[in-house]
Amino acid sequence: MFDFKYFAPTKVLFGKNTESKVAELIKEFGGTKVLIHYGGGSVVRSGLLKRVKDTLDSAGISYVELGGAVPNPHLSLVYEGIELCKKENVDFLLAIGGGSAIDSAKAIGYGLANEGDVWDYYDYKRKVTGSVPLGVILTIAATGSEMSDSSVITKEEGLVKRGYSSDFGRPKFAILNPELTMTLPDYQTACGCTDIMMHTMERYFTNGGNMEITDALAEGLLRTVKKNAIILRDDPKNYDARAEVMWAGSLSHNGLTGCGNDGGDWMTHKLEHELGGLYDVAHGAGLAAIWGSWARYVYKNCLHRFKRFALNVMDVENTGSDEDIALRGIEAMEDFYRSIGMPTNLRELGVNATDEDLVLMAHKCAVGVGGEMGSAKVLNEEAMLEIFRASM
Ligand code: NZQ
Ligand code: ZN
Repeated sequence: MFDFKYFAPTKVLFGKNTESKVAELIKEFGGTKVLIHYGGGSVVRSGLLKRVKDTLDSAGISYVELGGAVPNPHLSLVYEGIELCKKENVDFLLAIGGGSAIDSAKAIGYGLANEGDVWDYYDYKRKVTGSVPLGVILTIAATGSEMSDSSVITKEEGLVKRGYSSDFGRPKFAILNPELTMTLPDYQTACGCTDIMMHTMERYFTNGGNMEITDALAEGLLRTVKKNAIILRDDPKNYDARAEVMWAGSLSHNGLTGCGNDGGDWMTHKLEHELGGLYDVAHGAGLAAIWGSWARYVYKNCLHRFKRFALNVMDVENTGSDEDIALRGIEAMEDFYRSIGMPTNLRELGVNATDEDLVLMAHKCAVGVGGEMGSAKVLNEEAMLEIFRASM
């Protein structure tokens, strides 16, 4: 067991109609002029944006708005947001949507509160020393960005997708109304469940330390999301299942399921970020497409955790060798992905990469992680390439 820091300062309002409290919350955190930041228009179509604006109008809070945060959000919109906020003297950011709108808002906050080019932080050249307060109304359970310290942005030039983590980026509040996720396409719901599970799995498949309480939370979360992902596949309007998944999404990436371990593996995420950068795939689907190849490459170096996962999460029968049990756990996970319509390789993901592309992605990934990374098994550029090749 390692020492750890746990910092989850986000105030959460969970349940039906909680978005009606948004003005109160903005005032509580000192906001007087707000940037409402959102994605490609789902919040317009659902009527949520209008409801939020009406609430702010009634409370006398002025705002400007900026839509257009795409999945794998772009740096150019971040720059646009920073300029707009400077011009309009914005002192509070409100993201309405999913990880893309939230991450884009986090980047805008960094750009406003710090001098110089905001990409420097994503390029690991500097660290932020502050941000502008951010609140979130979540419309898709997936990334956990509503409580997390991270923000992932894609620089269009060179298609470089990078994450930056800072406690300054953690939202002041998160409004979680499971009903707001009911308009999601089934594919996005499944992508979200995959991502949620992966944030805990990244912290679970490690070689450095663990705690019984953390493992129990992690396994409980994984079993819960697995079960409710199937319920949502068959019954997308099931409120309780939406609620279970939504809360799991926040807990999976706020640090709770990593307390006492060595910080996590994170290589499935790093490999996926290359796919997201180059092919613009949905993050959760990219994770599912790469995970099996990653797992088969590393499991022997982390056998105790893969065995435990197989038995406690995937309900694999406790017979045969440890290796055999671990492999059946990986297969069961892939069966689960297929059962919710997720891909288990790059072709199923719709990516027909050339070997040249795979070499490029492995290289960019290695550069992005500073050479090598991983806890279940440390991966260098060669290993990353092997995993990409195995995932074709
Ligand atoms: O853009 P709109 O029109 O809103 O449509 C979105 C988008 O097309 C749609 N959507 C969202 N809520 C909806 C809805 N459609 C109908 N009804 C609703 N209620 O769903 C699509 C996906 O939205 P997006 O925000 O892109 O999804 P997600 O939350 O999965 O975010 C993905 C991004 O977050 C990054 C990913 O890499 C990716 O760039 N991540 C951020 C993390 C973090 N900050 O902590 C951690 C993650 O590991 C991840 O890397
Ligand atoms: Zn993720």
